[in-house]
Amino acid sequence: MLVLGIESSCDETGVALVEAQGSATPLLRAHALHSQIAMHQAYGGVVPELASRDHIRRVLPLAQTVFAEAGRQLGDVDVVAYTRGPGLAGALLVGAGVACALGAALGKPVLGVHHLEGHLLSPFLSADPPEFPFVALLVSGGHTQLMRVDGVGHYEILGETIDDAAGEAFDKSAKLMGLPYPGGPWLARLSEQGDATAFKLPRPLLHSGDLDFSFAGLKTAVMTQARKLGDQLEARKADLAASTQAAIVEVLLKKSIAALEATGMNRLVVAGGVGANQDLRRQLDAACAKRGVRVHYPELHLCTDNGAMIAMAAAMRLQAGMAEASTRYAFDVKPR
Ligand code: KG4
Ligand code: ZN
Repeated sequence: MLVLGIESSCDETGVALVEAQGSATPLLRAHALHSQIAMHQAYGGVVPELASRDHIRRVLPLAQTVFAEAGRQLGDVDVVAYTRGPGLAGALLVGAGVACALGAALGKPVLGVHHLEGHLLSPFLSADPPEFPFVALLVSGGHTQLMRVDGVGHYEILGETIDDAAGEAFDKSAKLMGLPYPGGPWLARLSEQGDATAFKLPRPLLHSGDLDFSFAGLKTAVMTQARKLGDQLEARKADLAASTQAAIVEVLLKKSIAALEATGMNRLVVAGGVGANQDLRRQLDAACAKRGVRVHYPELHLCTDNGAMIAMAAAMRLQAGMAEASTRYAFDVKPR
């Protein structure tokens, strides 16, 4: 079963081919990605209309690249998968529209995939995929969740953010420090030159006794600190960045460990854009090694949005009998 996957929920256009044989973990045959980050940077964030138009421009050339790379043809595709949501409505409609048009032209079924399930299953694209069950820490620009994962489609939310997502905390704090969009990777890089103990920033809900998160207060604390610094901000920026990263990472770390203890599981899967953060990886690796817990991450370049995770999630859902691809071609996107 050859699955073509299309991702267009936000500011990356991703196309990929994943092949599934029997019940073995599906294999990535090729993937291509175009990031719109440079285009949106001048606006300090994603401009939805520009995003949609760029997805339209990129998606078919990317598909051609993927077929050439895999040595396959459009006619070889068995299922066309696309991101159904969440995301920007107009951007989602591009991927859904193209997927349904291809499906209709080929007479092949289509399957809409939940973007977060794509992230969640993205570690299965690596050479050493995890085994079920596991605890998942899903940390992206829009979501922060701890999940108990017993199998494909068997997900239980253990805790989640009550306000901002971890990626949002990175991005908003970075913006306050005058760093480019999206701020997460910039703040992480700047942190390497800073002193993480320089500023005392709050660790919201660290001792709440549950597995929920809150990052809105941290952003406010960073803003207050930045204002207090005034002219000094430029000189102390690396210290403020490092202190901010330390606060976010500590909360993610402690809550992940608490989730592992609460479920008694010895496997942790980290996925989503913030999963690319090296400080988070270092600290999780160290804490989990001490407890005999295996940690799985997606490959670094597959942490942020991509088509491979969408094709993978579709292939795994179909394999597990958790979804049926359809020839109704009614592309109903779900922005929220
Ligand atoms: O998963 P993703 O690509 O998109 C969503 O589904 O939201 O995640 C993007 C988020 C952004 O907030 C970005 O700043 C953050 O992931 N991010 C990072 C790093 N790389 C990406 N945050 C911290 N450190 C990084 N190295
Ligand atoms: Zn994402």
